[in-house]
Formats: sequence, C-alpha cells, structure tokens
Amino acid sequence: MCGIVGYKGKQQPKEILIEGLKNLEYRGYDSSGIALKDGNEIQVIRSVGKISCLEEKVNSEKLLDARMGIAHTRWATHGVPSVENAHPHRVGKVTLVHNGIIENASELKEKLLKEGVVFNSETDTEVACAVINKYYEGDAVKAINKAIKELKGSYAFCIFFEDSDKLYAVRKDSPLIVGYGDDEIYVASDIAAIINYTNQYSLLEENEVCEIDKDVKVTLNGKKVKKEILTATISADSKDKCGYEHYMLKEIMEEPVVLEKTLKPYVDNLDKLPDLTEYEEIHIVACGSAMYAGMIGKTLIEENANLRVTVEVASEYRYKKVIYDRKTLVILISQSGETADTIAAMRKAKMAGIETLAIVNVVGSTIARESGSQIFIEAGPEIAVATTKAYMLQVAILSLLAYKAALSSGLDDKNVMAEIKKIPRMVREILDRRDDYLEIAKAIYKREDIFFIGRKIDYAVSMEGSLKLKEVSYIHSEAYQAGELKHGTISLVDDGTPVISIITDKDIREKTISNVQEVKARGAKCIIISNEEITGYDHLIQVPEMSNFFQPLVVVPCLQLIAYEVAKLRGCDIDKPKNLAKSVTVE
Ligand code: AGP
Repeated sequence: MCGIVGYKGKQQPKEILIEGLKNLEYRGYDSSGIALKDGNEIQVIRSVGKISCLEEKVNSEKLLDARMGIAHTRWATHGVPSVENAHPHRVGKVTLVHNGIIENASELKEKLLKEGVVFNSETDTEVACAVINKYYEGDAVKAINKAIKELKGSYAFCIFFEDSDKLYAVRKDSPLIVGYGDDEIYVASDIAAIINYTNQYSLLEENEVCEIDKDVKVTLNGKKVKKEILTATISADSKDKCGYEHYMLKEIMEEPVVLEKTLKPYVDNLDKLPDLTEYEEIHIVACGSAMYAGMIGKTLIEENANLRVTVEVASEYRYKKVIYDRKTLVILISQSGETADTIAAMRKAKMAGIETLAIVNVVGSTIARESGSQIFIEAGPEIAVATTKAYMLQVAILSLLAYKAALSSGLDDKNVMAEIKKIPRMVREILDRRDDYLEIAKAIYKREDIFFIGRKIDYAVSMEGSLKLKEVSYIHSEAYQAGELKHGTISLVDDGTPVISIITDKDIREKTISNVQEVKARGAKCIIISNEEITGYDHLIQVPEMSNFFQPLVVVPCLQLIAYEVAKLRGCDIDKPKNLAKSVTVE
C-alpha cells in the first residue's frame, strides 16, 4: 500500500513527482522520497513524515537539471519509518521504488551479504534492488527478467539504471499503470497520481516489463506486447474537496448522488443482476468495511431468500480449507479492487473452478479484471482512507441482490421497488440532521471506550459503526451482539461508558432493549438509533422505517457522521488516519 510515480519527458520532474505523491498520499504516508536523473548523475532526496516534509526538503536543495525521475510514498512493512528505509533505494547502478512485499527477502539478503553486498536499510526493497543490480550487465530488460524470477511476493517497481536514459517498470500483484502525455510518459500506482497531466493510460499486466524512452515498449519474457490505451473516467477536480473540510465529509455528503447513480440501472429492472438462488451456497469474501457490508448481505439473503451464506475474512479464506461441495458463488467485495488478501481469495476460488462475482468500485483494478463477473458501484474516487460512500453502495448492491433472490424465492412485495426510488432523498434527509450527530459526538468524544450493540442485521451494521469510529477517532471501540455483551465485556461498562444500540429489527427489539437496560443499570450512557421512538435513554436518533432490505441505508450515515464529528472534536487527521492506508495491497 505504497504509492509510486515515475516520469520521463521534457520537463523538470520535481513538480509532477511531488504532486503525484500528494495524490497518492492516501496509499501510505509515513515516509517518502524522489530520485532525479540527469545523464549518469542521480540525486536522491528522502524524508520521514508527510509529503509536505519531503516537498520542503526538495525545495531547499539545488536540484539536478533532470528530465527523468521516480518517487515513492511509503506505508512501512519491512523496517520502521525512517530516511534510511524510505524509497528510492540505490544499489550499484540500480535505483528504484517499490510497492509490495518481497517474501523471500531475508534469504536473498543472506546470499547477497555473502557476495559482499552492503545494505543501508532494513527493507525488502533494497534487497530487490541488489538482485536486479546483480544481473545488470548493460541490458536492463534482461536484468529485470532474471531478477523477478528470484523474487517471491508482490512488487511494482519503477527503476532507472545509472548508465541508461530509459525508465523501466514491472509489477506483480501490486498495481502499476503507464500514462501517456505529449512527449511525456508517466508511471503511477493509480491514475489519481497523474490525472492532472493525462487521462490516457495502459495497465501493466503481471511481469510485463515496460521500457520508456521517447516511446513505450512493453515485453513479456522478452516478447513484445501491444498495450490497449484506456481513458480514465475520473476528472482532475474529483479529488478536490468541493469546499468541504475533509474528503471524508465530502464523500459522506455525496452518498445520495452516488446511490441514485448506482441504483438507477436496477430500478424496475432487476434482470441485470444475477439471481443468487441459482446457487446452493454463497461465500462473501472481503476485508474490513467491505467484509462488514458482506455481513449485512448475509443477513438479508439468508432471512429473505433462505439461501446459505457465509462471510469470510479474505486473509483467512485464502489459506483455510474451503469445502466446495455445493454449487457455490464466491462474491468478492472491494472498493479498490487491489486488496491483496481479497485478490488471493478470488484466485483461490477460481483455481477451484468456482464462479466469482466482484462488487467493486475501481474499473480496471485487478479484482475487476480477473473476477468472473462484476457489479460496479458508482462511488467515483474515494480519497478518504475510511470508506463511507463506497461501503454504502456495497450494502445497496447486496440489498438489491437479496431482494432479487427473495423475489425468486416467492416474495411478493412490489413496495420495495417503490422504496428504492426514495432512498437517495431519505439519505439526504438523514445527512441534513448534522446537529443531532454533533450533539452525540460532544457527549462521547472524550471517552476512551465506546461499545456498539445490535442483533442480527443491527449487529452487522454496528460492526461498521464501530470500525468507522475507531479508524478516524482512535477511540477504542467494539461491536457486540447485544445478547453477548453480558458474557464478559459488560465488565468494561463503567459510569458514563457510551453504548450505541442499533434497534431496527422489530422481531427482536424487545430483546435488545433488555440488553440496553442491562448496560444502563451499570451506568452506561445509552445512545439509541432506531426506526421507532424509544424513550428513556440519553440520546435517540430516530430514522425512517424502511423495508428490512434497505433499513441499514438510513442507519449507516448516522454512524458515519457521529464518527466524523467525534474525530473532528479530537483533532484527528480524519482523511489520513495514523497507521492506515486506503488500499492494502500487501498481506
Ligand atoms: C475502510 O474504512 C477500511 N479502511 C478498510 O477496512 C477497507 O474497507 C478494507 O481495507 C478493504 O478495502 P477494499 O474495499 O479496497 O478491498
């Protein structure tokens, strides 16, 4: 989950590289660096902290009169965030930046140390650089192809060689694109980095080596490959905050619009969606918030279509024994389409001959390209690390899939389709009640432990509410099945401990209210989010009553805005929370 930018053209690369890194900062931001090349001269400047720290350092130095450069923003995997561990790394004649993890770095390093190589960092990247340098005898493509045969794990490299005026790129598992300008060529982890300069790009496929001079030559194992030129759909201004203080708030406020865009093709026309009842079993596999969206999907599909669904964390699914003894569909959910664990889980299912369906936001992403079929959400670029609008759309698509499966299973309820048309307006009304969420945020933002409880679908929603809060506010939070809290964790409930209870499932509301009573009796500050007027507690957010298919869509925005307001009151770095990255492209 690092970010890479490369450039070769007619300009001094500094501005392009720094701007590119800023647009990739959401991918990782604990250290960064650039390398410039003029003839055989190479200048490397690196810094810890955000890109602005690197920019300050670059502006304070006399720069080479370069027309080629590479740059990198890092989310540390091997080695602490430090200048020594920041990229670019140089060994011998090779200078490179890297996104990914070289899994056999230790054994390679041992061999190289014995061959007299001197290392200056703790990183796996420097090891990869040394391997390429070992094979470099003047033919860069040959050296790269030899080296990648030795490297295990994931990589996206942008490389230059001291005695060559060309720029090189190669990737495996980590994404990398080549952008085409006017006599200028760009390399980037994703289009967002270079959208200010070009919207014409190609996707590098696994182990294709890209050689950049005035033109671009791509080979695979030495054989020329013709690359399709794509046009990016995002616009340069889509990264602008449009007047909002944070991307997270902007993206929450976009939810009615992107819901409308995403739901529209299916209004009165569910034929475009797959019928899940054609399968005997559904595996929903994802990570983080995407997995929590899957939990909502599971509840809705099982409860309304009587179909067996399991939700699995991708990092477990990829390694565990999975029994495929029924006609199974594996649904991958991913905003970025580049989450390493989810990609691996998808490939595992495909290897077993199992059908895969991706619910994905980024067109052209690995999951979008490799899955058997896709349902694209229309979230647009999501820049804030904490997902909001994309998660909402994942839930919306899963709700539609559940509704279609329910219809196939005999449900006769046409009111739901009428409700779909109202969802964007209802979400807008929920979002407009910002004072309600701010009032709750003011009551809880100083606490160090906050619990969320719910039952069935309300529990699935509470999982995301808890993750959103802890991600952006750094408050410890846990979501619990309301009936489970008393089996241990209730010991943590003290006087004033906030407990946020989600109560929308009418069949089970009395049980959950009893659980609220239990925590209230122990001094908890009770916050209720419900589609009924439930009084007698510290705070109530009452949301409209919807069909069970779409009820979460008017609860989730409340939780997102509570998390946002709490984080703001705590002065957190809301769009780029510490230790996180937007797309986890490594294990
Ligand atoms: C989102 O708020 C989280 N930062 C994270 O859990 C995210 O949902 C997860 O990493 C999956 O990402 P993906 O949807 O791009 O695959």
